Amino acid sequence: MAVIAKSQDPAEVLKVLGDPTRLRILGLVERAELTVGELARALEMAQSRVSNHLRVLRDADLLQERHTGRATWLRLAELDPASNGDSLPARLWSAVRADVPALPEHRADVARLERVLAERSARSGEFFDRVAGEWDKIAVDFATGQARQRAAAALLPRESVVADLGCGTGWFARALAPLCDRIVLVDRSQGMLDEACRKLDPLPAGTRVEARRGELDALPIADEELDGAVAGLVLHHLADLAGPAREIFRALKPGGRVAIVELSPHGEAWMHESLGDRNLGLDPRDVLRALERAGFVDHTLESLEDRYRPRIPGGDADARAALPLYLVRARRPARA
Ligand SMILES: C[S@@+](CC[C@H](N)C(=O)[O-])C[C@H]1O[C@@H](n2cnc3c(N)ncnc32)[C@H](O)[C@@H]1O
Repeated sequence: MAVIAKSQDPAEVLKVLGDPTRLRILGLVERAELTVGELARALEMAQSRVSNHLRVLRDADLLQERHTGRATWLRLAELDPASNGDSLPARLWSAVRADVPALPEHRADVARLERVLAERSARSGEFFDRVAGEWDKIAVDFATGQARQRAAAALLPRESVVADLGCGTGWFARALAPLCDRIVLVDRSQGMLDEACRKLDPLPAGTRVEARRGELDALPIADEELDGAVAGLVLHHLADLAGPAREIFRALKPGGRVAIVELSPHGEAWMHESLGDRNLGLDPRDVLRALERAGFVDHTLESLEDRYRPRIPGGDADARAALPLYLVRARRPARA
């Protein structure tokens, strides 16, 4: 006579299901994946006794185990997608499961299970309280930041046209790309525009980019074309702020916003020569005054934690300046 596996022999599986303790076990494990210890507490039984039943249930393919660290987790075999829930043990269990609540111990089992699960969730809360200060060192870093940036972008309206003025290699444009429909890159250097386009490739789906060579005091942008404009570390290259401030105002729609990141005044004179800087930083009051004269409202000024860290020429490879930055924001008034 051919020998068949226990889990394919209806008489064997029915024998396994014929034990009330095993039915109680299945009735609890069906509600939540449990460790052996949690199950023993919910049943109010010694772990050794529970383990014997678990072995029988596992041999009949009614239960599955998963191992993490020192814990063994239990779940119903039918939860395994590979079985599609139509194995013989799964079919016989589904024939009796509706009657498990009729067992005399069932109500008390479920009440104890709820307490056990509540303790588990309290332990998880305590764990996070305990490790909060260390969490960023424990957790794996999201190296590119794309996951968070994309998630944030998914929540915001993105019908906007934004310019990166004096874009250089497009650092700001890359941060803006997931957030807007169209990015206009403006720089006087064709080499920088080419590099910015290269670094923006591939663009997030749905964003377009246009590179336009031009000057900040004669922007290659139509009147009221923009919803927003960013000018990062470019104003200190200019002889005068009044013309660019008027141009940005003209290019923004009423209600449009400008964000300016600049270097605080500093004393690193080598930056004239090595980085082509006309001014050694800019006094934020000069920036605010130029914006106000151009007609902008709602100005704000905040200092940034980031530092601009250019390499100091002639020093050793690690010698870098650490220059403070600030952010100025303002808005073109909405049409009356
Ligand atoms: C220090 S880089 C900053 C680039 C970029 N915004 C960033 O934060 O990395 C300054 C850029 O401004 C551009 N630039 C300087 N003066 C300009 C002007 N008058 N009009 C347009 N672009 C200018 C330069 O070609 C250069 O690409």
